[in-house]
Amino acid sequence: MLKGKKIILGITGSIAAYKAAFLLRLLVKEEAEVQVLITNAGKEFITPATLSALSGRPVLGTFFETGDGTWHSHVDLGTWADAMIIAPASANTLAKMTAGVCDNLLLTTYLSARCPVFIAPAMDLDMFSHPATQSNITLLEKHGCMIIEPATGVLASGLHGKGRMEEPEAIVEKIRKYYLDLETRPRLDGKRVLVTAGPTYEKIDPVRYIGNYSSGKMGFAIAERLAARGAIVDLIAGPVQLSVKNENINRINIVSARAMFEKSTELFPLCDGAIMTAAVADYAPAKISPKKIKRKSENITLKLKANPDIAAKMGEIKRDNQVLCGFALETDNEEENAIVKLKKKKFDFIVLNSLVEKGAGFMSDTNRITIIDTDNKKQVFPLKSKKDVADDVIDFFAASMLKKEHPQT
Ligand code: PMT
Repeated sequence: MLKGKKIILGITGSIAAYKAAFLLRLLVKEEAEVQVLITNAGKEFITPATLSALSGRPVLGTFFETGDGTWHSHVDLGTWADAMIIAPASANTLAKMTAGVCDNLLLTTYLSARCPVFIAPAMDLDMFSHPATQSNITLLEKHGCMIIEPATGVLASGLHGKGRMEEPEAIVEKIRKYYLDLETRPRLDGKRVLVTAGPTYEKIDPVRYIGNYSSGKMGFAIAERLAARGAIVDLIAGPVQLSVKNENINRINIVSARAMFEKSTELFPLCDGAIMTAAVADYAPAKISPKKIKRKSENITLKLKANPDIAAKMGEIKRDNQVLCGFALETDNEEENAIVKLKKKKFDFIVLNSLVEKGAGFMSDTNRITIIDTDNKKQVFPLKSKKDVADDVIDFFAASMLKKEHPQT
């Protein structure tokens, strides 16, 4: 997978710099061409001689290395590379990368790089969990970098916690998987896809609402993976604490089911398909009290009225060439109930997840799904991260789209 790939390995000042030598050796073993860039602080932890011997190339550190006026062009390096890996990435370098500071060759190359950038942070646990570092990491993800999360364990300080640079084998595996996905997963370049995500809140009075436990993680993962695979995404999101990273995602924030219904029916005709992950409240208070409801008696009765069924409406207006994917969140008779929804809402396929399964459904970072299509064919998947689940759903979505475009294949 990495054979012949041109890779820049950036090394910064961290005790984990010694692991960069192992990482370099693994990349070279994969027959990648590796150019090492090291900061001055990095050189305190590992010598350029070691890295040069392992990579078979001079290690670059500063703009002017020779004293005769020749200089290393960060632009040439940035356009040469197929991938840039910064491992270990110190808190200082992460902060400079977010701010666009360019006071060393590694940073100028990062700003000039057109290739995917992988970052493996390494630092003490308090530095890692500090809000400044965390917001820098979020921002770098937003800028399109891929963060390879540090592991938890004993740190150089003797403290125990999250901050150990991920092991070199695991870093290489993640990069290989990135290229494997890129080369084997179908692309959706130029396709426009609507995604609903998160909960809806139905107002009772100025301080209360009816809602549910959806965090938006499943829907946002789908939106991110769709955009990563070339699609333009309209993400209609209920109230959640998440941010989007890819600029091809047009996020529309709504609160109520009625607002989600209006935006979805407005945008769906402009799209090639939709994936409905939102946990929409089926009922809303029939009347919203303009003032806070006071506690006067032991029991009160709240009259509810049915919300519009967004997915069913989309099934009704769906064109023959549009793909509509629904989700079903069940607690009992799972497959039976999912098939009823598949038919009733005219989905092309439905993604069943069950609240009975550990690690599936609301809030978790993982999910376990079964995909059922209109021929009642089902595909069961193991427990995976929501990002990987998103890729499985998108593979199915892309295949359904292809089938509609070329019915005889
Ligand atoms: O957000 P997370 O914390 O990551 O959790 C993800 C999830 C559990 C919310 C997600 O994986 C999921 O299962 N979403 C669908 C939840 C749901 O409400 O399912 P349902 O069986 O009630 O609805 C069936 C389908 O109709 C869904 O696609 C739903 O979006 C849609 N629907 C439902 C009611 C309604 N009024 N309008 C709709 O569009």
